[in-house]
Amino acid sequence: MNFVGEHILSVAQLNRADVEEIFAVADKMTPFAHRERVTRVLDGAVLCNLFFEASTRTRLSFGAAFNLLGGSVRETTDMESTSLVKGESLKDFARVVSAYSDVIVMRHPIDGAVAEFAESSRSPVLNGGDGSNEHPTQALLDVYTIKKELRTRKKGLDDLRIAVIGDLKYGRAVHSLIKLLKLFRNITVHLIAPPVLSAPESVITELQKAGHEVRHFEQLEHGIQGVDVLYMTRTQEERFSSSAEAREYQGLFRINQAVYSQHCEPDTVIMHPLPRDSREAAQEVNVDLDSNPNLAVFRQSDNGLIVRMALFALILDVVNKVEDYSTQVGWFTDARKWD
Ligand code: NCD
Repeated sequence: MNFVGEHILSVAQLNRADVEEIFAVADKMTPFAHRERVTRVLDGAVLCNLFFEASTRTRLSFGAAFNLLGGSVRETTDMESTSLVKGESLKDFARVVSAYSDVIVMRHPIDGAVAEFAESSRSPVLNGGDGSNEHPTQALLDVYTIKKELRTRKKGLDDLRIAVIGDLKYGRAVHSLIKLLKLFRNITVHLIAPPVLSAPESVITELQKAGHEVRHFEQLEHGIQGVDVLYMTRTQEERFSSSAEAREYQGLFRINQAVYSQHCEPDTVIMHPLPRDSREAAQEVNVDLDSNPNLAVFRQSDNGLIVRMALFALILDVVNKVEDYSTQVGWFTDARKWD
């Protein structure tokens, strides 16, 4: 696809060549993300970040990515502080906000709301997560991370074996991830979830129709054997009718060093979109794995910055100008370490 001026609402818009192009641009962004160089290529451009649900990584990394390309960021983090609470339609809201911005990122609690907003926006819109539907940029950074992690293990995305674990019903990050993996060859996906939290049928059948293998498990110990990647998720408490109902599923699947050592192949990559739920009843990824070099969860969030810089550069058509507008800076210290 030609990314210039386009909305990114769903991974379904992308083919394999598009994903590879994003990853190639992401690689080029790395020195800028790591503050080895500074670019002002988006000087004068404005990003509006509209986040109507809790967010740390997605909001801040989109904002920082734009800043690192030289642009400015305006944001609103609360629907209560916008005129949407006065009954303004998403259509009017989009018409207005898109005049203030060159690009918009929106997170919204309702499935499809970001696409509805985008229809009336005069600036490109990136979906930062819409309800339990999709989280396309998370899936891009996840697949970019898988690619990087497996490269050191002399493997690629083709023939990937991955276990996806937890709340597969409401987890928008896993919906986008599974849909994106469909683009590669010979993928094996182990879906580990209680039946009531299984992935939507449409997501599973799409994968099967593309010729990939899907296996269902209810026992963590069985499903995590023979895979390259474990992708853990949090019970999406905010999508349940009550916290009490969500609690029934928290802590159902937990990975810790002992479980990992007993059941996983050596070097299995451990991923999670974060936040991991650190409350005692949950702890789907135990902190005793923090010293395990295969825990990639913070490399994932680091990669989020790079992938989001790549998307802005592609959409705003500055990929080939980033270097021209770059400079050395005095404040950079190489004491900062990157994985
Ligand atoms: C995810 C989300 O918001 O969907 N978080 C994120 O963006 N990294 C996953 C989650 O909240 O569990």
